[in-house]
Amino acid sequence: GGTNSGELLELAVRVAREAAATARRMRAEAIDDVETKSTATDVVTAADKAVERQVVEALRAMRPGDGILGEEYGSSEEPLPGAVRWILDPIDGTVNYLYGLPQYAVSLAAEVDGAVVAGVVVNAATGDEWTATLGGGAWRGDRRLSGSTPSGLGQSLVGTGFGYDARRREHQGRVLAGLITQVRDIRRFGAAALDLCAVAEGMLDGYYEKGLNPWDWAAGGLVATEAGVVVAGLNGAAPGAEMLVAASPAVFGPLHDALAALDAAGGA
Ligand code: IPD
Repeated sequence: GGTNSGELLELAVRVAREAAATARRMRAEAIDDVETKSTATDVVTAADKAVERQVVEALRAMRPGDGILGEEYGSSEEPLPGAVRWILDPIDGTVNYLYGLPQYAVSLAAEVDGAVVAGVVVNAATGDEWTATLGGGAWRGDRRLSGSTPSGLGQSLVGTGFGYDARRREHQGRVLAGLITQVRDIRRFGAAALDLCAVAEGMLDGYYEKGLNPWDWAAGGLVATEAGVVVAGLNGAAPGAEMLVAASPAVFGPLHDALAALDAAGGA
């Protein structure tokens, strides 16, 4: 298989759509078989596993040489130089899925030499799709996305999310308590990939979360970046290192600085 980003995106969209259909069908049939993972709040359903298996099988059949990093089954070995590695969250927003809240998604990205070159996020409940290729822009269907232009941090609607570990949540709660007085308001929708697409579309002015995994943000991060959103870590760190901050260039600076100060003061 080649590494043309347009071709990779085409395949990703096809596979992600089928995966979303499986997730939706399994949700309609009944949720059974709920297990917990790292903590009691970290759930995985039979659908997470079935959807991941379906995507892995489809990719393996079509592109047997590629690597795959998936949320539920982990990783094949490190990809060779110049090879494609797929990064998959079969159901981002598993808790929403469990409750039937229509905010859960299949997130699939293609990475080459550490750079995400194509990504798709499909809201499995609604069928909405966000796509991007490196240098090719971000799209919702055939509409090109360009984010929002808020006039200041105080006029910014900011999304966030919480991890599953209790100590991390305490820290996240303290950071949130400090931020909420500095912004227009906070949203916690429950699926990081969709949050990043919301910033790309201007439905949020910013989003941040500490402790994301690559599958949570690989595809949505490219969609946001290609829409002109700044996606970075704190104090020049890589976005995936600790806290990821995504915001319109109009407010990235003040949002970053507020979060860096609160994160440092919040200890943990
Ligand atoms: C979770 C969601 C959530 C975020 C968590 C993620 P999952 O992914 O994206 O919004 O706050 O950090 O783990 O577990 O539903 O795939």
